[in-house]
Amino acid sequence: MSQRTSVIAGNWKMNKTTSDARIYVEELIGLVAGKEGVEIILCPPFTCLAEVNAMLEGTDVRVSAQNMHFEELGAYTGEISAGMLTDIGVTDVILGHSERREHFCEDDESLAKKVPAAIDAGIRPILCVGESDEEREAGSTETKLERQLTQDLAGISGGQLAGIIVAYEPIWAIGTGKTATPQIAQEACAFIRKTLAGEFTPAAAAQVRILYGGSVKPGNITELMVEEDIDGALVGGACLTASDFARIVDFGR
Ligand code: PGA
Repeated sequence: MSQRTSVIAGNWKMNKTTSDARIYVEELIGLVAGKEGVEIILCPPFTCLAEVNAMLEGTDVRVSAQNMHFEELGAYTGEISAGMLTDIGVTDVILGHSERREHFCEDDESLAKKVPAAIDAGIRPILCVGESDEEREAGSTETKLERQLTQDLAGISGGQLAGIIVAYEPIWAIGTGKTATPQIAQEACAFIRKTLAGEFTPAAAAQVRILYGGSVKPGNITELMVEEDIDGALVGGACLTASDFARIVDFGR
């Protein structure tokens, strides 16, 4: 663990109605009240963002969307802009999650526009990068990470880098129960920091929070968090129960 403030983010993906969200958030607030030394982020679906944000008023828990469009407005049926998100109090946005890259044709070209569009609107991007099973076996993990980082962050300056969060999410570990070992996760996160130092400056790269994501649970968060370049976790399945998520927050501090 480093001097950087830890971040524990819970990605609900396409789960929970507004009434489910109310029950969850009420329980979570009670469980995480007063916990210091960790930044907590909830990433509900679009339909729950306003409600969750209203319930979290007066707490330090941040609210993140799971995607956004890079244009401010216009004829983009089904899309949501950064301005629409800030309008309802959203502070962060997950960009480039592998499920969006895989199922919704999200590419590095659009991410290169989304990252600066989010920053310009005052929203902090949580940029996800990671390799597939085949890419790891072929020895091309670093090439993939380097390509995603350089292309997706092409539109931002060194000064803006410190304000983003990067999540290393190996695709083979997402929703599979197959967590990366702390050593594998650390190696990849250290490589990400080194790449950012080369593309921007070592000082800016040293400030970036790098999260690990992929089958994080209360039982494996501690061993991941002791690693030097892992500053937190992006949690999917295990965040859907408030008590499990609160335990991850506890161990992730
Ligand atoms: P998981 O998902 O924790 O269910 O593996 C992580 C993610 O997709 O961010």
